[in-house]
Amino acid sequence: MLWKRLYLQFVVSVPLVSFIHARQYLPLADEIINGFGGPLDCASCHSLLVTLRATAALGDNALTNSLKNMCKQLKLQDPDVCDGVLDNAGPIIAHDLRSISPFGQTSTKFCSAIFGLCAEPPVNDYIVPFPKPTPRNPKVFKSSGKPPFQVVHFSDVHIDREYTIGSEANCSKPLCCREFGDQPEPTKDPAGPLGNHACDTPHPLVKSIVKAIDATNTSFSLFTGDIVDGAVWLVNQEDVTNDINLFGEDFRLKSPVFPALGNHESSPVNCFPRTTNEDHAEDSQWVYDTTSSQWSQWIGQAAAEQITHYSGSYSVVVANTNLRIISINSGFWYKMNLWLYDSDDPQPDPNGILSFLVEQLQFAEDLGQRCWIMAHMAPGGGDVTLDQSNYYDQVIQRYKHVIAGQFFGHTHADEFQIAYSNYSDRTRDTAVSTAWIAPSLTPRSGNPAFKLYDVDPETYEILDAKVYTTNVSHPEFQIEPIWTMLYSTRDLYSSSIPKGLGPADALSPMFWHDVTELFETDDEAFREFQRRKRRTGRGGCRQRVDDDDAYDQCKRRTICQLRAQRSEDNCVDVNRREGWLLEPALPEGDVASHECEGIGIGAILKQMIDASHNKMDETMKNMLRVQLNELLLPLQEAQEAPAISYMNDLKQILLGMH
Ligand SMILES: *[C@@H]1O[C@H](CO)[C@@H](O)[C@H](O)[C@H]1NC(C)=O
Ligand SMILES: *[C@@H]1O[C@H](CO)[C@@H](O)[C@H](O)[C@H]1NC(C)=O
Ligand SMILES: *[C@@H]1O[C@H](CO)[C@@H](O)[C@H](O)[C@H]1NC(C)=O
Ligand SMILES: *[C@@H]1O[C@H](CO)[C@@H](O)[C@H](O)[C@H]1NC(C)=O
Repeated sequence: MLWKRLYLQFVVSVPLVSFIHARQYLPLADEIINGFGGPLDCASCHSLLVTLRATAALGDNALTNSLKNMCKQLKLQDPDVCDGVLDNAGPIIAHDLRSISPFGQTSTKFCSAIFGLCAEPPVNDYIVPFPKPTPRNPKVFKSSGKPPFQVVHFSDVHIDREYTIGSEANCSKPLCCREFGDQPEPTKDPAGPLGNHACDTPHPLVKSIVKAIDATNTSFSLFTGDIVDGAVWLVNQEDVTNDINLFGEDFRLKSPVFPALGNHESSPVNCFPRTTNEDHAEDSQWVYDTTSSQWSQWIGQAAAEQITHYSGSYSVVVANTNLRIISINSGFWYKMNLWLYDSDDPQPDPNGILSFLVEQLQFAEDLGQRCWIMAHMAPGGGDVTLDQSNYYDQVIQRYKHVIAGQFFGHTHADEFQIAYSNYSDRTRDTAVSTAWIAPSLTPRSGNPAFKLYDVDPETYEILDAKVYTTNVSHPEFQIEPIWTMLYSTRDLYSSSIPKGLGPADALSPMFWHDVTELFETDDEAFREFQRRKRRTGRGGCRQRVDDDDAYDQCKRRTICQLRAQRSEDNCVDVNRREGWLLEPALPEGDVASHECEGIGIGAILKQMIDASHNKMDETMKNMLRVQLNELLLPLQEAQEAPAISYMNDLKQILLGMH
């Protein structure tokens, strides 16, 4: 029985006997080099984790420094970028690898998210508990056609406090327009005072953004996160604290701002520990404390206190309205949050974020209020954990009559996601909720843009979404950016969807479903959508691929992503093992791109695999072997009894099978 199960589970994918023989005797240096250069499949990724775990057993530095050597030897990034990214992420990865089985489900998830070498395990069944059943006759919110009020939604401002006018904008780093000291002279493309597409937002552009928002008639603003710049290899706690504080000063708009925490509001970037992590549970408390004290100016003292107790989440009723805004920290469903991989036990609701959301939605239902949910990351993206996305969707289904809108950022794109009551039957009639996703303000992802909503004061549904933008290439931009309305969603689609829109009709989930059907039948409408989505020439389906089948597939996937607020249904193929080394860029529809993450640990580890296949010649291999042996052999010798060996790992599998 045991052997049969063992056979089924491993021998089918990993030839166990050859695994024992091949793996047992090689020095770690060769194991690491061969591991990264090994077959591009899931079983090989698990066996790479065995090697990396044995390296991590020698200490955080053993793993961090080995990966740094790889990064530099393969010239994946400039040496300072390799060092910075791995100094930040290396110790958490080492901790993860020491804490989990290299063959368990968490390892598979790690191999999927970080290396793209495993398919994601299916959702772990979990029924979200609700305090009360859905009311038989839920309160209906009806519009009597009162004039709307306005709300600005802005996101991903990524302010670079070290932006330097005149510095190189075409530099060798993931983020430019800074004094790096290792760039060739003379400067080829000097950074202008107001910004550049290779760079994050300079302070004068922040002032222009503030002026542009204040020029609207907004009653309040939603800010869906990412204050901090994308120089993730340099960012530390002091920088992030400083950036959060300065954001609080710079964005003293004429009306309140309701913010949400982004994945960049932490250090190391993306990383919020779970409360179950005894040694590190408090590692991000400084983030919550800093945002709490800055944001109390807008959200009040009670909500500010919630931030410190609910890992960055809060709930507040907007003054003089019947609208409750619930802002949650989406960091616990972000696949790049490395703290999510330190346990083999499934944890359905890390840090109680979902139960906080449920509690607040129940308050709203009991009090007859409507709700807006806001967070940094929309729940349907390819970079969202399937489990948490599924559980969040259960919450949306339960409280859909209470929820008038959901608001997110993170993708840097002007887009949306629709939730359906039945994902096997995605139609106008099953569309139940909309995730509004704001474009980024950083010029790094196209022209800076924000949304201005017209809101019905009785239903709190969105009547129109107007997008405002400024053209970075325009000669006036470097003197005084001009903000203009790019389009009104209502004007754009109301006459082209078959059902049309009555004057008092909101832009409902049904409306958005109709828009996706329009994209299916009207290719020009789809192309226009893609152009606006990224506000650059980049990113459309047509440009990345040259044959019609691929275009059609890309288009289908893009539309599928719009129709998925549940990540298991988004058609994103995270398992890129077949041919992904050959792809020049992720096809549109694969949202988990570098744009949101920046060149961080995920990008570098994927590049490590890629370059081990494409770039690694014998000379490089030999040099790397020497370096790794120098680093690891003394540590291995100093180790009295190997804490974790390959044989131990194999024994663990056997024991775990009883
Ligand atoms: C601005 O918004 C307020 C509140 O919604 C409204 O009363 C006022 O008429 C608006 N002003 C303009 C110029 O639109
Ligand atoms: C940036 O510099 C590289 C090499 O120095 C050059 O090939 C490239 O065209 C430049 N790009 C831009 C946008 O100036
Ligand atoms: C969902 O849709 C599928 C396909 O139309 C259908 O077979 C199924 O019964 C539906 N499920 C529910 C719960 O309505
Ligand atoms: C931005 O300005 C440039 C230069 O004036 C112009 O060529 C380009 O068409 C403008 N882009 C948009 C989207 O208006």
